[in-house]
Amino acid sequence: MIFQNLITEIKDGILIVTINRPDKLNALNTNTVHEIGEVIKEGESNTTVKGIIITGAGEKAFVAGADISEFKNIKEAEGKALSAKGQQVFKSVELCTKPVIAAVNGFALGGGCELAMSCHIRVASENARFGQPEVKLGLIPGYGGTQRLIQLIGKGKAMELSITADMIDANEALRLGLVNYVTTPDQLMAKCIEIMNKIKAVSPMAVSSVIKCVDAYYTDGVDGFRFEVDEFGKCFGTNDFKEGTTAFLEKRKANFN
Ligand code: COA
Repeated sequence: MIFQNLITEIKDGILIVTINRPDKLNALNTNTVHEIGEVIKEGESNTTVKGIIITGAGEKAFVAGADISEFKNIKEAEGKALSAKGQQVFKSVELCTKPVIAAVNGFALGGGCELAMSCHIRVASENARFGQPEVKLGLIPGYGGTQRLIQLIGKGKAMELSITADMIDANEALRLGLVNYVTTPDQLMAKCIEIMNKIKAVSPMAVSSVIKCVDAYYTDGVDGFRFEVDEFGKCFGTNDFKEGTTAFLEKRKANFN
């Protein structure tokens, strides 16, 4: 995998993706957004990859937002296309059949907060800062932020953060349910790997099925309960189900391939 703005490494079945524009606080230019979509596809198709961790290069930022320098001269139609592309890529993160964890190592603003929110789990280091400051620029969140922030922290606080442009620290993000854990900066990756190792030990088929069911709750026109019935039924025809139940009855650890 060769990317211009991402560094990738596969370690013990975990694809670690580092967004690498530290001099621009890892701001998401068009190419970086495209590359995130591509790396998710590659992670999904590579059978040695069991999960993905996304982080930012340097000590200051996860991602400080969309690249504002690309906004100059953009008109309505191009703005819509930018938003549609960002939403499509972040949806592919959210719907990735393998678990995706955001290791938030600093500023997660605008598109950075939106990227973190599209991941399945978020771990923040103590120096992380979150916010949707787009209104300061005469913009609004365009990569799913107006919707996912409500899903994670509820309408009242989501509204407040998005219309005041306030930045919150990692502990406030934890209190609001925006992140799952807060660690010291040097423990951030270890915590993400610890979580990923727990997920790696269970059925990958069941994990992707849970991801789909959770997403169904938020999908217009889809009855999540009905969707769960179908997904639950499908499990019974899988090797993972056979292995999981057999291992339990034989009092041994399941070995999922
Ligand atoms: N787009 C483009 N460039 C960005 C950027 C963004 N979203 N965020 C930071 N950068 C660039 C700065 O322009 C600067 O580049 P330069 O050295 O070539 O001038 C570099 O990253 C460092 O940022 P700087 O502002 O000097 O760091 P800081 O520590 O003083 O402030 C922030 C950090 C995050 C508070 C500040 O950079 C910021 O407000 N960024 C924009 C956040 C935002 O509005 N995001 C939503 C975009 S839609």
